[in-house]
Amino acid sequence: MKITVSRKAHFNAAHRLHNPLLSSEENLDTFGKCNNPYYHGHNYELIVSVTGEVDVKTGYLIDMKVLSDLIKRKVEDHLDHKNLNEQVEEFKELNPTAEHIAFVIWNRLKPELGHHLELSVTLYETPRNFVEYHGL
Ligand code: NI
Repeated sequence: MKITVSRKAHFNAAHRLHNPLLSSEENLDTFGKCNNPYYHGHNYELIVSVTGEVDVKTGYLIDMKVLSDLIKRKVEDHLDHKNLNEQVEEFKELNPTAEHIAFVIWNRLKPELGHHLELSVTLYETPRNFVEYHGL
């Protein structure tokens, strides 16, 4: 029996969307307000979902305490209240779009999970805009 368990988390972060290969005008056309050179913030909502076979001994897929501690250590401590462009290594060369943030989060969490567990990450940048990454 395959089952999915999910844990919600939250962090605040500032970013600027900008591609140095584009002109100022093209950057503004492409990224709009998110191109603001003085940065701006988002309240990111994160859903981390883990899928696999339930452990017959415990009846758990994964201990929720283990999952919440993992999210805190690998995601919240790394991103919360940060300027993503300036302070987070992964975004020194990578535009911090919701797509790329979800990708970075997935890659930070995956090595910490057992190989028998599948991971997907859903990231809300606003209450209405969200992206999903399944590692495919
Ligand atoms: Ni933005």
